[in-house]
Amino acid sequence: MAKFTQIQAPKGVSEYFPDRSNIFEFVRGSLIGSAKTAGYQLIELPVFEDTDLFKRGVGESTDVVSKEMYTFEDRGGRSITLRPEGTAGVMRSVIEHNLDRGQLPVKVWYSGAFFRAERPQAGRYRQFYQVGIEAIGLDDPEIDVEVIAVAQRAFQKLGLKNYTLEITSLGDKESRERYTKELRAFIATIDLDEETARRAEINPLRLFDDKRDQIKEAMSNAPILLEYLTPESAAHFARVQELLNDLNIPFVVNKRMVRGLDYYTGTAFEFIHHGLGAQSGIGGGGRYDGLMEQLGGSALSGIGFGIGVDRCVLACEAEGIELPDRFVLDLFLVPLSPVAKSTALRLAERLRKSGLRVDIAYGDRSLKGGMKAADKSGARFSLVIGDDEIASDTAALKDMKTGESLSVKMSALEENLQEYFGQTIGTLGER
Ligand code: HAM
Repeated sequence: MAKFTQIQAPKGVSEYFPDRSNIFEFVRGSLIGSAKTAGYQLIELPVFEDTDLFKRGVGESTDVVSKEMYTFEDRGGRSITLRPEGTAGVMRSVIEHNLDRGQLPVKVWYSGAFFRAERPQAGRYRQFYQVGIEAIGLDDPEIDVEVIAVAQRAFQKLGLKNYTLEITSLGDKESRERYTKELRAFIATIDLDEETARRAEINPLRLFDDKRDQIKEAMSNAPILLEYLTPESAAHFARVQELLNDLNIPFVVNKRMVRGLDYYTGTAFEFIHHGLGAQSGIGGGGRYDGLMEQLGGSALSGIGFGIGVDRCVLACEAEGIELPDRFVLDLFLVPLSPVAKSTALRLAERLRKSGLRVDIAYGDRSLKGGMKAADKSGARFSLVIGDDEIASDTAALKDMKTGESLSVKMSALEENLQEYFGQTIGTLGER
């Protein structure tokens, strides 16, 4: 009997370990690779920030801020919050380090863990992973479409098909003011409890998000923001649609979309996957033209997205997408004697230096045990090394897929292997 009790992960966190971590790495790598090909550069930020950043940046009417933040007092008595999303932190850093003083737009990507104390269910976690991009300092509809295209290209590269891009425009300040006046007048005609009325007071759009049937029903007759756009906002949105068509990116306009964070203005979008049940949003984003100023910076606009890596993994699994390279290793070495063990270690290090992924059957194994380990290792090729092989510098390279063997010189293995390994060298996803 075990002496100590086991400790389990906190409720609702997502974690990835072999073999499933390979698909996670593949998905994340594809998303990052797509951002990099459009000139986005890494921004690596703290996972905790001053609580006020999210209160002011994300908005107190949102579920994220009012119900879901992991907030605590640090040892110095400061209020700290684990980041529930990435955009506010990026803006904080851009302002603090004057990143907007150089060429615009500032284009950055990030990848990491985010924290929301939501009720856990399939696809909804308390610690989850996002890859995000932000383009700051440009108002043009072209950049809106570039941001959407980065996500679209990544999903295509992954092989995803069963999803829809939904877009809308949340309008500029003037459109919003005109609209909220009408919306507030409409909301005054429905009967709301105190808490809901308070949230509607801060941001009346939040009521479109309400999951309760009677509110959904009442809101189905509410005025629609898209019909109150100023001519400038309407023209921007029309141009976004024209450019999406031009790039053959299919989309539908969702007039009732409300994003869960308060900073959005203008173009907003969501990618909805149809094989995931309730948690169907695999990514979303939009413009946030007032955010930088609201956080004490200059009046620059911005647009970006956050893609849920966990949900993309689930989407790939739902669509039966397989990794393009199912091998996690290029070569597995099976040494059969003490001398062969050191030969194998030297050879492995030499080949690893040239970029091959190599592992060894450690421990004292028989040929049979070693080959069993080679089978399980997920390697494309194996090489048995005994005293005879060392003496003759010749060994049999076994193709684990076909079972065929090829006699190779160990001293010139790199060259021998190049033709086989050309396709498989490197890290998953980003190739
Ligand atoms: P968001 O829509 O709140 O936007 O989150 C983006 C994506 O993160 C969602 O579409 C979903 O895939 C994933 N996600 C969110 N919450 C969870 C959860 N509890 N469990 C699993 N996955 C989740 C943002 O966070 C914005 N910062 C995006 C953005 C960037 N907008 C402009 N720039």
